[in-house]
Amino acid sequence: MKKKYVLIGTGGRAEFFYGSMVRDFQDTCELVAFCDVNQTRLDYANKLLEESYGVPAIRTYLASQFDEMIKAEQPDFVIVTSVDRTHHRYIIRAMELGCDVITEKPMTVDAEKTQAIIDAVERTGQQVRVTFNYRYAPHNTKIRELIRDGVIGQVNSVHFEWALDTQHGADYFRRWHRDKRNSGGLLVHKSTHHFDLVNFWLGTEPDTVYATGGLRFYGKENAEERGVTSFYERAYGSELAKDDPFAIDMESNPHLKGMYLDAEHEDGYHRDQSVFGDGINIEDTLGVNVTYKNKAILTYSLNAYLPWEGFQIAFNGTKGRIEVSVREQSYINSGGKKSDEGKLEQKSLRVIPMFGESYEVEVEEKEGGHGGGDPELLNDLFGEPKEDTFHRAASHIDGAVSILTGIAGNQSLATGQAVKVDSLVDLKR
Ligand SMILES: NC(=O)c1ccc[n+]([C@@H]2O[C@H](COP(=O)([O-])OP(=O)(O)OC[C@H]3O[C@@H](n4cnc5c(N)ncnc54)[C@H](O)[C@@H]3O)[C@@H](O)[C@H]2O)c1
Repeated sequence: MKKKYVLIGTGGRAEFFYGSMVRDFQDTCELVAFCDVNQTRLDYANKLLEESYGVPAIRTYLASQFDEMIKAEQPDFVIVTSVDRTHHRYIIRAMELGCDVITEKPMTVDAEKTQAIIDAVERTGQQVRVTFNYRYAPHNTKIRELIRDGVIGQVNSVHFEWALDTQHGADYFRRWHRDKRNSGGLLVHKSTHHFDLVNFWLGTEPDTVYATGGLRFYGKENAEERGVTSFYERAYGSELAKDDPFAIDMESNPHLKGMYLDAEHEDGYHRDQSVFGDGINIEDTLGVNVTYKNKAILTYSLNAYLPWEGFQIAFNGTKGRIEVSVREQSYINSGGKKSDEGKLEQKSLRVIPMFGESYEVEVEEKEGGHGGGDPELLNDLFGEPKEDTFHRAASHIDGAVSILTGIAGNQSLATGQAVKVDSLVDLKR
């Protein structure tokens, strides 16, 4: 029997789920309603259903009608793709009303909201899935396989650098993410992917976290210190923005215009704010040290204004080392094709045995976003899931453990002290 789905938060990310459902999973899924705070964005999602996918529009509800929607539509699943700070409200309420939940990362943004989700899972007996698409990227799954199979012995340390470029990295500073209350900052919003990968690769969980960093490039003060004297608030209608390589022009992109510019009159949300404006309180330069329960250590960095996008990582084990380097194609949310997100430009995965010749490990990349990982994740969610020896489907516990490194990191940034992850939330396992 087909499962019924509703989706809350019809912004840029939502189409990844609903587009796939109506295009590839009509035999197993029925998408029945959209919900959002913004009716224009709801109507735009319906327009995409009709025009891009050739399927009929579905019913829409405002966020204030969430309970009404669940009672009227009786969905099996609620998909949560709203602003991070709101995830917990819909996750918890959906479960209280008898639904299972599929939520985008980060599951939520702080320890209190994480605890509320954990408690609600226990209270209701419903399930929460967190959509960690990076686990499914073939090179990331291959790393798990190599480590699991003991190719470099026991991994004692990991050196992990993530680079966000001046397009995609800058985008976090133009949008709602620039306020830590909305996103938890990049240590939660973005690094949740990376910390989840380390948990997944090493098969362990974080114990202690120490973080340093700050806002060193974006923001008005940094620009002033570099001698900038002219500022603007948002790109739309600004002459100054025309000469700013960090600005985006929503008017010239029909998708950005339909989804955000034409919807502003309802909620006043500006998606094209100047990255050198005031009011940014997230970090763009971060360094984190993590000690894991199995005694492995991680040194991690994230910088959001670099000339290329991707990551470099080294795993040091008792039998050798794995070195990985991946460059992703630059992408901004809703600014291009969905399948371009996380698309690879260049990749290398080398095993260097402690004694002996190093060798390149071939990894088959497939069509679709994140090196072909996205279609696999979508099949796992909406199709007939295949048996997965890597256990990539992520639960609310995986969702919690991945954000707790960032949440502990935020506490460490604020206090200057190392933070014990177990002190933050009772995972009730
Ligand atoms: N896994 C990935 O690779 C990936 C990529 C992009 C985004 N995401 C996640 O998807 C989610 C949405 O991000 P996005 O880029 O689409 O942002 P977006 O700004 O395009 O969309 C957010 C939507 O939430 C709605 N919203 C705002 N406040 C709300 C509220 N109180 N109640 C209900 N809806 C509300 C907005 O109106 C908007 O339609 C985020 O959690 C983000 O982390 C994940």
